[in-house]
Amino acid sequence: MSEKQQVRGSYWLETAPGDRHPALTEDIEVDVAVIGAGIAGLSTAWELARAGRSVAVLEAGRVAASVTGHTTAKVSALHTLVYDRLRRTRGEESARLYARSQAEAVEHLGQVARELGVDCEWEPKSSYTYVCDAGRVEELRAEARAAREAGLPASFVTETGLPFPVAGAVEVTGQAQFHPRKYLLALTADLVARGGRVYEDTTVIGLDEGEPCRVSTTAGATVTARDVVVATHYPVFDRALLFTRLTPRRELVVAGTIPAGQDPQGMYITPDEGTRSVRTAPYTGDRRFLIVTGEHFTPGAGDTRARFARLTAWATEHFPDLAVTHRWATQDNDSTDTVPMVGPLHPGTRHAYVATGFGGWGMSGGVMAGRLLAAQITGEECAWSGLYDPRRLLPQVREAPSFLKTQAKVAGHFVGDRLRPSPPVESLPPGEGAVVRVDGQRLAVYRDDSGSLHAVSARCTHLGCLVSFNDAERAWECPCHGSRFDTDGKVIQGPATRPLERRDI
Ligand code: FES
Repeated sequence: MSEKQQVRGSYWLETAPGDRHPALTEDIEVDVAVIGAGIAGLSTAWELARAGRSVAVLEAGRVAASVTGHTTAKVSALHTLVYDRLRRTRGEESARLYARSQAEAVEHLGQVARELGVDCEWEPKSSYTYVCDAGRVEELRAEARAAREAGLPASFVTETGLPFPVAGAVEVTGQAQFHPRKYLLALTADLVARGGRVYEDTTVIGLDEGEPCRVSTTAGATVTARDVVVATHYPVFDRALLFTRLTPRRELVVAGTIPAGQDPQGMYITPDEGTRSVRTAPYTGDRRFLIVTGEHFTPGAGDTRARFARLTAWATEHFPDLAVTHRWATQDNDSTDTVPMVGPLHPGTRHAYVATGFGGWGMSGGVMAGRLLAAQITGEECAWSGLYDPRRLLPQVREAPSFLKTQAKVAGHFVGDRLRPSPPVESLPPGEGAVVRVDGQRLAVYRDDSGSLHAVSARCTHLGCLVSFNDAERAWECPCHGSRFDTDGKVIQGPATRPLERRDI
């Protein structure tokens, strides 16, 4: 089996392929244009359609197929170690609002799934943050205390369903896991039934924030709308320079079936080195589908094959009967203060909104964002608007260390990556790619299995950092803000909206 075959598309996409939606080819007018059809965009559009607004969703690829199609789909208000940190940095009331907003999102998601009558494999489960390192037990005790005081049914435990001992864990009961695409395809169908319009293969390249706003697309069609929501994971329009407060993180997933009797009966994550996350899903017969995630890294950091190998070794060590059938990767954006940014796009705006920075917790976060943005657009009050406001100016001492770290990292890539030695093109084996210097230009060159070379500019079309090759997924990745391109330069993931330019070699 070739490497390309080993890195199969996600299990969610394979088991719920969905129908296609048309591309936007003519000018239209709606109340609200939503850019991005992941869980945040679709939830926002659906809430607004339910509130009687006319809505158009514009997706550059396919509905619920990008980041949302590669998630681990835990629907949980326990987000690793967020509560103790929030309590210390933003106060107890913020921790309470965070807990309430996320717990209500978990509840709401289950309720909507029931309302839609969709079998999205919804399974109530406990959510756990565990550590194996005894030196971190106090941290977990503090998190359990903070989560409980914030209003969640949290406790510190030492026994879990994992097949290895843990030093301690925070357990929050009453959370859930599900099949994200089965849910979102049903939500999209209901949105369309309510008059919402959904367009795929429609890349947005311009936003004119007038009254009304105008959104333009690569195909030349425009959408006129009173309000616009940018829900593209990493924002494609960023007038508040949110990219200076967001860090992209890529994570790998290995999955396959295990005997049902070995199901660890819960959703697990550890902040220990390498990060490991575990959950299962229904499968046929007497087997369950095990999903193990970990090995987070900056996009473009390289060694993806070795990282997959390490994660597979960990999974098969702890679940020896695991038959690995699927591997895929996912990408998250961490905000510098660990709280998502949901609300007005920038300080001067009246009608443009954004949802980003879910830090790996996009299921509850996306649903929370949908409800919050719908409330803001329809003029309702929401108790946690301030908590998630992207315009928040936190006392800089709190956010400054992560902010500076993020900027130093980006600057390091911008300058350092240009100083990397350039390997000779002739030495590239089939299936490999490298950034090489040709006639003073940096080219991203990939040799396909038949030996042909594919060359594109190595300069990311977002802000000009140099891309790097991902050897397992055969893609070009930008370390600065996480844009991803296929081997011919086509955008797989933003914030870049333009392809890498083709070059002759
Ligand atoms: Fe921003 Fe590449 S994603 S420079």
